[in-house]
Amino acid sequence: MAKIEVRARDGAVQTVEAPDGTVLMRRLRDAGLGVAGTCGGMSSCGSCHVYVESGGERLAPPGEDEADMIAALADVVEVRPESRLSCQIVMNADSDGLAIEIAPQF
Ligand code: FES
Repeated sequence: MAKIEVRARDGAVQTVEAPDGTVLMRRLRDAGLGVAGTCGGMSSCGSCHVYVESGGERLAPPGEDEADMIAALADVVEVRPESRLSCQIVMNADSDGLAIEIAPQF
């Protein structure tokens, strides 16, 4: 079980937890936090964009598809060095304790 601190778009902070192996995007979507996950986790919609406020150094770096999608997002929303796609983050020991902020909708 991994726990992640989530700052929603309205600024409210809550702890989200899920069993290891759960894709973070799906957990955020199911929690009603406004993450659409339109492409189902294919790194092609950007609707699961988050800012990893702390703990991001424990995650594997973005793959090529994720990096390309984040670069494309810069045309429509603020992209930061800590931008990640939550569909590429899996709940496990490496993600346990992350703090994230859900990026603005576009
Ligand atoms: S769900 Fe589409 S990019 Fe993550």
